[in-house]
Amino acid sequence: MTSDNNSKTKMSLLALAAMKRRGDKIAVVTAYDAPSARLAEAAGVDVVLVGDSAAMAMLGYESTAPVTVDEMLMLTRAVTRGSSQPIVVADMPFGSYQASDEIAFENAVRFLKEGRADAVKLEGAKGTLSRVAALVDGGIPVMGHIGLTPQSVTMLGGYKPQGRTAAEARNLHGDAVALQSAGCFAVVLEAIPAPVAAHITETLRIPTIGIGSGVACDGQVLVWHDLLGLTFGHVPRFVKQYADVATLTRTALTTYVADVRASRFPGVEHTYSMAADELASFEAELAAAASRRRGPD
Ligand code: KIV
Repeated sequence: MTSDNNSKTKMSLLALAAMKRRGDKIAVVTAYDAPSARLAEAAGVDVVLVGDSAAMAMLGYESTAPVTVDEMLMLTRAVTRGSSQPIVVADMPFGSYQASDEIAFENAVRFLKEGRADAVKLEGAKGTLSRVAALVDGGIPVMGHIGLTPQSVTMLGGYKPQGRTAAEARNLHGDAVALQSAGCFAVVLEAIPAPVAAHITETLRIPTIGIGSGVACDGQVLVWHDLLGLTFGHVPRFVKQYADVATLTRTALTTYVADVRASRFPGVEHTYSMAADELASFEAELAAAASRRRGPD
């Protein structure tokens, strides 16, 4: 880390709340490894989310459901080793908090103690409210997540926007207020119509972090692989791709393979030399050994 980075201070939950009050937008991105966390920090990201989107983006699962606490912990540890200024939020994977407040608390503690995360994120409201309250009571900061909640994608009938009827919008608005009352320091609004997200943002004291929910949210989050053009398969409508890293990577790799095949790599500049007298002595030893093996002429 550079001395410039060392001179900057750690982002805090109070600072996030102040950003909302001032109307300063909050930049959040997912990351799952140390170099990405370092790059996010250097870019001035406020919050790094170790999202369970890692299940698909990093680990090749077909949904977020299979990823385990241990897998998420390994990724969280890498992110916290790679960055120091942004708030690091670890996503609690499916099955790690639904059963009881006690199980949720035990697993959340692991994310703080072993993963060194600053906070955890839970999906849903209703049944999740008592989990949020239990964690916050125990001193664990919690980010909420409503709207399209990928862990319940089957129950929601697929990856589709939520809150598009007046009744659904009212329900989401109530959920957001309830999560704030339960103690969340922020809430992710995923795939919610922009006017509904704007009303929720206006109502809440805590910041809203939007993904596919319009520009009125207090902050925005994008998945690392979507943002950089590293997603294979369907890319949601709400993604803005800021670079085409997949094409860059493909070009670099095919050039590397061609160079290896044609002996263009490594060049002398990638190669170690040795002193001429040491080489001569080594070659003389080899010649003597070969002659011993051949025996007398
Ligand atoms: O898992 C994730 O990356 C998320 C964000 C999309 C909010 O939950």
